[in-house]
Amino acid sequence: MAAEMALIKPISKFSTNPTRSTFFTTRKFNTTTVKMSATSSQPATTSKKPGKKANKNTIKESLLTPRFYTTDFDEMETLFNTEINKNLNQSEFQALLQEFKTDYNQTHFVRNKEFKEAADKMEGPLRQIFVEFLERSCTAEFSGFLLYKELGRRLKKTNPVVAEIFSLMSRDEARHAGFLNKGLSDFNLALDLGFLTKARKYTFFKPKFIFYATYLSEKIGYWRYITIYRHLKENPEYQCYPIFKYFENWCQDENRHGDFFSALLKAQPQFLNDWKAKLWSRFFCLSVYVTMYLNDCQRSAFYEGIGLDTKEFDMHVLIETNRTTARIFPAVLDVENPEFKRKLDRMVVINEKILAIGESEDIPFVKNLKRIPLIAALASEILAAYLMPPVESGSVDFAEFEPQIVY
Ligand SMILES: [Fe+2]
Ligand SMILES: [Fe+2]
Repeated sequence: MAAEMALIKPISKFSTNPTRSTFFTTRKFNTTTVKMSATSSQPATTSKKPGKKANKNTIKESLLTPRFYTTDFDEMETLFNTEINKNLNQSEFQALLQEFKTDYNQTHFVRNKEFKEAADKMEGPLRQIFVEFLERSCTAEFSGFLLYKELGRRLKKTNPVVAEIFSLMSRDEARHAGFLNKGLSDFNLALDLGFLTKARKYTFFKPKFIFYATYLSEKIGYWRYITIYRHLKENPEYQCYPIFKYFENWCQDENRHGDFFSALLKAQPQFLNDWKAKLWSRFFCLSVYVTMYLNDCQRSAFYEGIGLDTKEFDMHVLIETNRTTARIFPAVLDVENPEFKRKLDRMVVINEKILAIGESEDIPFVKNLKRIPLIAALASEILAAYLMPPVESGSVDFAEFEPQIVY
């Protein structure tokens, strides 16, 4: 996984631990233990644990904070039981498994001394926003690692081929999260992923929603990484930190993950071929797109810091992701209609006002009162965007689908 899909409303949720669901990074020469699973090819990084009074840098939880996901694993087992589901094309999954086993990026994520040197040169607000980018990206990647690892474990008996692919995808995500976390160490910070696993809330999605949401998350991640990579290749003067040089191969992992979900969806035609599937497809597209747009517009300093116009970048990513998604989802949003962007921009303005209330000196009661009309306005913009005439899409002929490298 690479992109965040936080605005999506949970169907229901539970917490493995009722403690506050913030996570922390420690400051100043303290780093925390980073615990990855055995499926990770990254060795666990161990260093000094922070004391209880360590200076903690919290990230505020909001609708837009990256989430962790869980699902109904029993239903997943039924969906992937080859005796029950005759649509499962095992030869296609075998082919995909070979792709994953090839492990194209096995030796890709190797760091060098440029990282620390570049981090040391970064100062002021850019440094701060850069750290936040690393933290959020690491959390989003790690979220994928946890979900795929569990799916790999739970599907082992029912469908060993699909299970192994999930395990190999969790290997990729662990690598991505680990690489980002090592990036944080250049800033003398580290996410405590073991703590995060236990303390964070998990959002529950039924399997079909996991398929829509993760497909979109992988494909949008692909388009984000490749767009940043291409931009920085053309404009090397903005290459302020070497992590972006790794995005070209990295995004191919995300693309393969997305293709795997595409194959999973094809094996479950009931999730693609009726009016409900169309409504859910549009819902998930909208949730993922709005989440990205609002998140990125809150952090335009980061995108400007690497020489991008935030809104232009986002619209490019949205349009490309939507075109890719239209190959498999039965309906997508008309993101190329200028009215869609106008709606997104109005959401940004409303969201900024909501954020400003949060930062004001008012007492909580007054803040909540002031928020009500704005939240209503935001909800009505989102609903209006959802109700825009959609683009009918999808394909009953999936012959063109083959695992492939896309540049
Ligand atoms: Fe990833
Ligand atoms: Fe991924």
